[in-house]
Amino acid sequence: MIKKRVFSGIQPSGTVHIGNYIGALRNWALMQKDHDCLYCIVDLHAITVPQDPKDLRERILFTTATTLAAGIDPQQSILFVQSDVPEHAELAWLLNCVVYYGELTRMTQFKDKSTVRGEGTSAGLFTYPVLMAADILLYGAQAVPVGDDQRQHLELTRLIARRLEKDLPDWVVVPNAFIEKKGARVMGLDDPMAKMSKSAPSEYNYISLDDAPDLIRKKIRKAVTDSGTTIEFDEEKRPAVANLLTIYSSLTDRPVEEIVQQYAGKGYGDFKKDLAEVVVEGLAPIQKRIREFVSDPAQLQRILTEGAEKAGAIARPRMAAIKKGLGLGRP
Ligand code: AMP
Ligand code: TRP
Repeated sequence: MIKKRVFSGIQPSGTVHIGNYIGALRNWALMQKDHDCLYCIVDLHAITVPQDPKDLRERILFTTATTLAAGIDPQQSILFVQSDVPEHAELAWLLNCVVYYGELTRMTQFKDKSTVRGEGTSAGLFTYPVLMAADILLYGAQAVPVGDDQRQHLELTRLIARRLEKDLPDWVVVPNAFIEKKGARVMGLDDPMAKMSKSAPSEYNYISLDDAPDLIRKKIRKAVTDSGTTIEFDEEKRPAVANLLTIYSSLTDRPVEEIVQQYAGKGYGDFKKDLAEVVVEGLAPIQKRIREFVSDPAQLQRILTEGAEKAGAIARPRMAAIKKGLGLGRP
């Protein structure tokens, strides 16, 4: 049986939070068994906004350690750094000439980020989704596990794929987004109307996978709740409690309804206290593995070198084929 190919990426921002874990990384790990998976630390995406070079290098290794700690097994999956495989940037140029300017102007993430950066908005931030399409199409991936915030980028990738398919039917694979119903959009602890994000102004917005137990407890204690008093799941009317229930349910693998029943007649205090322990215990094994991986940078380097070799071996012939298909180079 031929396994379906999976591709996904994570930015080397250093902090990996429970939104990343519940919305994406957990599914990456679960898909490894019966899929042919490539997972990528997307450093070329990171430089669409200013980075400190020394910091970036460190964060690439730390994000690798965190990804491994979250369950990515380099024996089963290919884990690599995007800039180690130059075909990503090369294909992105070709796709820049396939996508339309107007299509990129409609990307909501660009609108949000460029509003923040103003005059300092790089052209790379504008073509960010094209590089992402290149990541996916380069390997002919069929499924892309991501959080809900990447839905529009995946739609654009499919549009680019279909446009290319007319000339290159044998080369193109039109990918599907794999977005779970539950946990695809974990909201900020201090603001349940906006997604949990490491670029949030306050660190009380998120729980990082490497936060110490006491900090986790403090963050959950301070998490906003709604004006009600009961533990109910209603994303519209009670978004803050619904978000906490989602986190509880995802980390325990128990249905939300069961948790709601357990807290019938109890208040926010009891619920939050237990949730804090659920998170602390859920993250403990991951934290232990992060420490182990971080203490052995040579091993991380070995894993990434091997990953880049394996990814490159797939990318190079696919890149040669699309160049030929588009009539580039010499006959
Ligand atoms: P990033 O760190 O932006 O590269 O995101 C890595 C993965 O985490 C992507 O698949 C995102 O869609 C996912 N993700 C980021 N933030 C959240 C969130 N608040 N809830 C669920 N998934 C998220
Ligand atoms: N843009 C994604 C994010 O910020 C990361 C990413 C880059 C990605 N390339 C990808 C995700 C390819 C899936 C497939 O979360």
